[in-house]
Amino acid sequence: MEPAVDLDSVEELRSIDSSDMLGVLGRFPQQSTEALEIGRTDLNLPSAEGVKEIVILGMGGSGISGDVVSAIAGSEGLSVPVITVKGYYLPPFVGEDSLVFAISYSGNTEETINCYADACSRGARMVAVTSGGEIARKAAGDDVPCFKVPSGFQPRASLGYLFIPILSTLERMGFLNGVVTQIEELNGLLMERSEEYKPEIPLDDNPAKRLAKELVGFLPVVYSSEGIYSVAALRWKAQLNENAKVPAFHNLFPELNHNETVGWEHLQDVCTKTHIVVLREPEEYPRIEKRIKITLDLIENHVGRITHVWARGGTPVERLLDIIYFGDFTSVYLALALGQDPTPVDRISELKQLLASD
Ligand code: F6R
Repeated sequence: MEPAVDLDSVEELRSIDSSDMLGVLGRFPQQSTEALEIGRTDLNLPSAEGVKEIVILGMGGSGISGDVVSAIAGSEGLSVPVITVKGYYLPPFVGEDSLVFAISYSGNTEETINCYADACSRGARMVAVTSGGEIARKAAGDDVPCFKVPSGFQPRASLGYLFIPILSTLERMGFLNGVVTQIEELNGLLMERSEEYKPEIPLDDNPAKRLAKELVGFLPVVYSSEGIYSVAALRWKAQLNENAKVPAFHNLFPELNHNETVGWEHLQDVCTKTHIVVLREPEEYPRIEKRIKITLDLIENHVGRITHVWARGGTPVERLLDIIYFGDFTSVYLALALGQDPTPVDRISELKQLLASD
């Protein structure tokens, strides 16, 4: 199947991308710089003494920011567990010794509001990150420190605004050291990538456009190794869903070797329409590297296409953001290749309205 539009016609791309998702994405490096500033807001942060776990509440585009924090905190060697909660209920262990971040870009997501209220009633140490809504109102009423991020974006296009203030708060509170400098240094790399993937760069020189073209007419299945890259695979999947409006799935090595590897057998018409995107990293654990090779050898005749995407950058943080940024651009170009405006997520809005109606 061929793209519905000429991916090299900037005019055509812009006419479909009516809310300028490409522009917002291109300005991600600036968003990161602004987010560092937001993270410096003078707030009365809770005490770090005796904190046993860090819990991050959030759904969808907000929730994934918590996963990014958790991945980076882990790769920086933070020994306090960081867990994300994506649902209505808090785990039973959350209490006075928990540091809880409630992230909701809109501030109006019911699952997050529910957990926020529960965490407050359990005496947890709270911090909020939002652009407004109910969470902002509640935080003001409860004297909970609240990082206010700019409104007017899609939550998933606000990743930097949402995860960076949390990381810098963890540094301010003494849990991490040097991560703010790493984010500052990341900017050069993000700016290079934003130049490389921008719409003016033709398909032949633009890897994000090229992969998007290869994904047209296929079902994307994103694989990565467990650990820090699992959030990248989830982000790719979610961005393909929300921007390109295609079904997409993800799974992780080594777990997928214990089940999914067997599944590429029947439903051949579906399997051969699948494009497996494997997120790779230069310092891969050798057993994972071997598993990826063996797995792909075993299934290559059963699936449609396989593409390896290599993370680039000097540090784990750089490589993680590099591969996420590439996926973001790829998903937007796939949307445009399908003639689809990447920004609106009408079905999510409709679902939220229907839920609110009784
Ligand atoms: C929309 C998006 C969604 C929202 C989710 C939660 O761009 O990414 O996944 O993030 O519906 O809403 P918020 O982020 O406002 O709490």
